[in-house]
Amino acid sequence: MSVLVAYASRYGATRQIAQHIAAVLTVAGLDVRVRPTTVVDDVRGHEAVILGSSVYRGHWMEQATAFVDLHHDALVERPTWLFSSGLLGPDQPHSDLDRLAEELGARDRQAFGGALEVGRLDLIDRVLRLKPARRRVLPPGDYRDWDSIEGWAHRIATELAPSVTPGFTPGLTPGA
Ligand SMILES: Cc1cc2nc3c(=O)[nH]c(=O)nc-3n(C[C@H](O)[C@H](O)[C@H](O)COP(=O)(O)O)c2cc1C
Repeated sequence: MSVLVAYASRYGATRQIAQHIAAVLTVAGLDVRVRPTTVVDDVRGHEAVILGSSVYRGHWMEQATAFVDLHHDALVERPTWLFSSGLLGPDQPHSDLDRLAEELGARDRQAFGGALEVGRLDLIDRVLRLKPARRRVLPPGDYRDWDSIEGWAHRIATELAPSVTPGFTPGLTPGA
């Protein structure tokens, strides 16, 4: 089964989450492509889609919401999973994650912790992060929980390829 993992990422934190999800699905025996949303022309060549975006100022990146608009009908027709990466967790008032998941009838949605390295931010983001209201809630650091990311990817793999046992690596016989 062919699976697309599409992501919108400004500094790479969400790209690495997407790559990790893709690696788990690949090990589970699925045929996986991991691509930035901006280079995907058509999702119809894939039977399932996982879409993720980082959150900036309460919203998904524009390229991710544009991806949803562009491929809306194809996404509704396919099993789709959505994830966010951000520093404020799932309870953000303007989060697009829940709204888009409802709109697309997504199988599941997940808000993962993100990562922020101040030295890599462009000037605008550096200034926005330093606004007093944000400084309190945007601490630099890496808050990605790889175990929870991997667990979520395993659950998707189990739904798409039910013969896969979570944690089992094909080709290795447990106990051998
Ligand atoms: C200017 C700025 C605004 C941000 N706004 C939010 C926000 O509203 N909610 C949130 O959860 N994270 C916010 N973040 C944190 C990013 O979402 C987080 O660092 C994310 O993991 C970055 O992923 P990326 O490198 O893939 O773009 C913000 C970061 C910056 C620099």
